Amino acid sequence: MIPLTKVRPFLKWAGGKFALSEQINQLLPAGDTLVEPFVGAGAVFLNNHDFTRYQLNDINPDLINLYKHLQKKPEVLVKKTAKLFTDKHNNSESYYQLRDKFNQARNGIDKSAIFIYLNRHGYNGLCRYNRSGGFNVPFGRYKKPYFPEREMYFFAEKSQRATFTCKDFKSVIRTAKANSVIYCDPPYAHLNPEKANSFTGYAGNKFEQKEQADLADLAIKSSAKSIPVLISNHDTQLTREIYAKAESSYIQVRRYISREANNRKPVQEVFALFK
Ligand SMILES: C[S@@+](CC[C@H](N)C(=O)[O-])C[C@H]1O[C@@H](n2cnc3c(N)ncnc32)[C@H](O)[C@@H]1O
Repeated sequence: MIPLTKVRPFLKWAGGKFALSEQINQLLPAGDTLVEPFVGAGAVFLNNHDFTRYQLNDINPDLINLYKHLQKKPEVLVKKTAKLFTDKHNNSESYYQLRDKFNQARNGIDKSAIFIYLNRHGYNGLCRYNRSGGFNVPFGRYKKPYFPEREMYFFAEKSQRATFTCKDFKSVIRTAKANSVIYCDPPYAHLNPEKANSFTGYAGNKFEQKEQADLADLAIKSSAKSIPVLISNHDTQLTREIYAKAESSYIQVRRYISREANNRKPVQEVFALFK
């Protein structure tokens, strides 16, 4: 099943690689299994046709529980989610009620349906939690949020070739098996380290210079075991240093608008291949 057009993830996700998935897939070396320690919404997985198996990981348990439910019971999850994508639920009162229900729920399929609802009805598709782990994104006020049924079914079908885990990236990279290729899309390195805010979305999880450097070290170790690692990130002074041993290519994808209008700097994306 190779679709003619590119496949959009069914979730909105900060840092999603939908627009760059073709370039990324071209840079990936050949192998049997593609390992993604930071899968997010899965744009690379969905648009890749070269691997037989996919090992998909993310530190966010709500995301991974949702993927597991979708993999096992796509019809049930689609049906439950469809019930939430109605005018009746597209107002702030319903939104905050469902958000409370989500925060009190255990990891069942109902919680996953609400997660999809929150992703499309919450402000900017953000996924953010407070310190005690409560999802705290405000209502987004969209006229008619899109119900991504087709995209959910596509994901479900492709995920029959995937395994999902919810771990820290380090153990995923350390335990990758021979014939794997690893693609890492970590939270972006800060463009302005002095003003860095360590918040990366999931409660209690921070991703700072130390984590960026640990990831680069693990990539070096993994490539020494013949398991290549491709990492994408902002091209910054830090990433130039920590990716010095990689084969790097660059794409200009967006503009960083700094607060001072005369200090606008173009920002490139770096693709560092450790092989
Ligand atoms: C830039 S996003 C990945 C976007 C993805 N490539 C896509 O196209 O949607 C980074 C992801 O890393 C996850 N993450 C953050 N810290 C992590 C950690 N320590 N270990 C594993 N995943 C982590 C976040 O939950 C987030 O989903």
